[in-house]
Amino acid sequence: MLKCKNISFQYNRSTWLFRNVNFALERGEIVGMFGKSGSGKTTLAKIMANYLSPAEGEVIIDGEKSVFPKVYPVQLIWQHPEQAINPKWKLSETIEEVEELDKEIIDILGIKREWFNRRPHELSGGELQRFCIARAFHPDTRYIIADEITSMFDAITQAQIWHALIRLVKERNIGVLAISHHISLLERISDRIIDFNQLKSCPM
Ligand SMILES: Nc1ncnc2c1ncn2[C@@H]1O[C@H](COP(=O)(O)OP(=O)(O)OP(=O)(O)O)[C@@H](O)[C@H]1O
Ligand SMILES: [Mg+2]
Repeated sequence: MLKCKNISFQYNRSTWLFRNVNFALERGEIVGMFGKSGSGKTTLAKIMANYLSPAEGEVIIDGEKSVFPKVYPVQLIWQHPEQAINPKWKLSETIEEVEELDKEIIDILGIKREWFNRRPHELSGGELQRFCIARAFHPDTRYIIADEITSMFDAITQAQIWHALIRLVKERNIGVLAISHHISLLERISDRIIDFNQLKSCPM
């Protein structure tokens, strides 16, 4: 279980962005999250994936509070793939960062072999996002946070990407937090849906 326990955060010392957020995600479960723009969803995602430290509270991963070596078990996929990938590297180099990347992941995500020899600007956003998703599937990944990962794509690409992702996470028993403003998308993909604004004031 990935557990946020009494998490509070502030970007500047005078105001709290949120206080005492409690939330838990099981492995193999897909939880949808929506909430007002600017309320702090991406900030919470960064805390859960260890990009930011909370001011108060803690993130507990399968009962452990310790720092994990090498690959963090919570992987964050960002909205804009072009900002998450080294623009100078060929995609083959980006993907080499993941040891033992399964051929199955590449195939299920519909990544074509010829794309590997290209650099990020030579792929479409949807094609590039598939690489970012593939990269999140490290053998040590236990949870994935998908922060608006398909909001810039057309409906067919959105459906293809989510179909592939859901198949992979269910096979690997990975828990997913899917953040989106598109409630209809969350209703299609999630096992349960939560409102971040209610989470802010909900004791556990
Ligand atoms: N590095 C930063 N320094 C200062 N303030 C920041 C920083 N990053 C974000 N913020 C502010 O914190 C608030 C929460 O931002 P965050 O990106 O977490 O919101 P969000 O819920 O993900 O919004 P959206 O739905 O629009 O993606 C916003 O008011 C934002 O301006
Ligand atoms: Mg956000």
